[in-house]
Amino acid sequence: MTTALVTEPDSAAPPLPRPFLKWAGGKGQLLRQFQPLLPASYGRYFEPFVGGAALFFSLQPARATLTDVNSELVDCYRAVRDSVEEVIAALSHHTYDEAHYYRVRDLDPASLSLPARAARTIFLNKTGFNGLYRVNSAGRFNVPFGRYVNPSICNRPQLRACSAALQSVELAVRDFERVIDHAEAGDFVYLDPPYSPVSSTANFTSYSAGGFSFRDQERLAALFAALDKKGVLVMLSNSDVPEIPPLYSKFRVDRVAALRSINAKSDARGRVGEIVIRNYTTRRSRKAAPADKAG
Ligand SMILES: C[S@@+](CC[C@H](N)C(=O)[O-])C[C@H]1O[C@@H](n2cnc3c(N)ncnc32)[C@H](O)[C@@H]1O
Repeated sequence: MTTALVTEPDSAAPPLPRPFLKWAGGKGQLLRQFQPLLPASYGRYFEPFVGGAALFFSLQPARATLTDVNSELVDCYRAVRDSVEEVIAALSHHTYDEAHYYRVRDLDPASLSLPARAARTIFLNKTGFNGLYRVNSAGRFNVPFGRYVNPSICNRPQLRACSAALQSVELAVRDFERVIDHAEAGDFVYLDPPYSPVSSTANFTSYSAGGFSFRDQERLAALFAALDKKGVLVMLSNSDVPEIPPLYSKFRVDRVAALRSINAKSDARGRVGEIVIRNYTTRRSRKAAPADKAG
């Protein structure tokens, strides 16, 4: 099937920035529930598992560092920050067509210019199965073609709004643990790791070659404690599975409900519990949920 490129019309009022990629575990639906849990003020904003960056785009902090281990993702943000018009031009070469999808999927990202690489990432994300990001053992993207009706591939106003929000942002490919070398007392770190599987069949750990093991969850809990010791404000979200809260027994745990929107098995979608762990309180959250406090 071939359809013409679908673009959003340019509108007079610039839209608010919001994620331009669909991302497993994206926090768009939880932003309202996160609102009362956020610190009232902070220095620099850090998001070491940036993914679709839903919280960053909604907060638009003045000073921010966004990092992730996924280099294709970080390159995509770099290109949108520095060369958004070139990314938009490169996206105009893509069409929603199965044969074209597999040709683009087979391209080596390293052989492409930064804007063309970002356009490839955005195109595969908008037209691949369920917006998943999955790589094979060689680190090559291997998600199959997705079935959509006229998918929007290039939302120009949205990309430009995201580019504006990213202008002064520092971007880097690195493991989450390294945030300890950069965040200082009074800064705010939001940690949103790959989900701990809610059942033995769930598989939310394939964001990058290597996955995210329980050992990584323990490294993360140690990082949380180290950031706390440094005086950094820390908020972490994770799925509400029994093995996670005991890792944070010294800290405050609040429960929120999340609608999982990406799952390989569509019948497994639905509302699941999510926990938010913090090392600080806010006036509203002290009133709203004192019973949820752990430890
Ligand atoms: C749940 S997603 C983040 C979702 C994001 N908050 C959003 O709103 O879209 C988790 C992210 O962690 C990244 N990741 C996995 N292992 C990592 C590691 N060891 N260090 C840094 N990032 C990692 C993945 O590439 C993925 O983008």
